[in-house]
Amino acid sequence: MVNTSVDLTADLGFIKLKNPIIPASGTFGYGEEFGKFFNLDILGGFILKGIYKEPRKGNPPPRVFETASGLLNSIGLAGPGAIELQKIIKRTAAITSTPIIVNVCGGSDDEYVEVAEIFDSMPEVSILELNISCPNIHQGGKCPAQDDKHTYRLVKRIKDHTSKPLMVKLTPNASNITSIAASAEEAGADCLSLVNTFLGMAVDLKKRAPVFKNIFAGLSGPAIKPLALKLVWEVSRSVNIPVVGIGGITTGKDVLEFILVGASAVQTGTINMVEPCASVRILSEIETLMKSLKIKNLNEIKGALKI
Ligand SMILES: Cc1cc2nc3c(=O)[nH]c(=O)nc-3n(C[C@H](O)[C@H](O)[C@H](O)COP(=O)(O)O)c2cc1C
Repeated sequence: MVNTSVDLTADLGFIKLKNPIIPASGTFGYGEEFGKFFNLDILGGFILKGIYKEPRKGNPPPRVFETASGLLNSIGLAGPGAIELQKIIKRTAAITSTPIIVNVCGGSDDEYVEVAEIFDSMPEVSILELNISCPNIHQGGKCPAQDDKHTYRLVKRIKDHTSKPLMVKLTPNASNITSIAASAEEAGADCLSLVNTFLGMAVDLKKRAPVFKNIFAGLSGPAIKPLALKLVWEVSRSVNIPVVGIGGITTGKDVLEFILVGASAVQTGTINMVEPCASVRILSEIETLMKSLKIKNLNEIKGALKI
């Protein structure tokens, strides 16, 4: 456990996390893999790789491509399917009491609802994160979180069919993210997480062809941090539900910056793939920085950006 004399509690309203660090979906396996590197109990929570009802192979290789300060991925939501994931969650829950968050996916609205219902029934699961923002399924990167009405309709249906808190994950690839955020809030989302990856592409000069079969892929890592920070600031000022900030976080300083612009907690993504124990380091950096800046608790700086 991280020994701390500052208060790292992150309040999402419906749940108080022991700290704001939540490893992001797709970058932390199903939790149990990382339990071999450090005690999962130190985390505020963690999110499992996105899941569909049936097993999925995902996209053909190549699936990842390194860019300057970033990573392009086109995994295509490969996974074992909901029934297998239920077994994995039971195993993971046996090694930690940290809140487990399931990243719910679907090829249709009906499938989203079915998957959400399956995990809503599991006491081991604390929160459902609705992934309506993956850019790697349909060519062109289309997803429900690019459309106000689709977002409203889907969030409302899931809220009507489930009882667990719902975190709705937004895409930065929408023309007006604040209006999508408003639709999710109006439909009953308990909190929002943002952002998923930015659409980008890479080309192979020799082949004169795109690197990825889907042409577009999702950009993550430090390269997106300033873009994500801006969107988290805009969205958190425009809604009355908590916002969980995501995008290029690699240090304790990054975390405090996201909280300053309005996030209640954060998700750490690509850094987990580079440095499996990043959460341990980031937590200790937050504590050191809070002490040196004389910040007693996160609420003191949440949304306190002076304009
Ligand atoms: C390899 C990879 C796989 C991902 N898979 C998912 C996923 O299954 N579901 C999801 O909602 N987001 C997924 N994401 C997006 C991350 O959760 C996160 O939103 C994004 O990477 C931005 O954070 P970062 O810059 O800290 O990595 C994935 C990202 C990467 C790099």
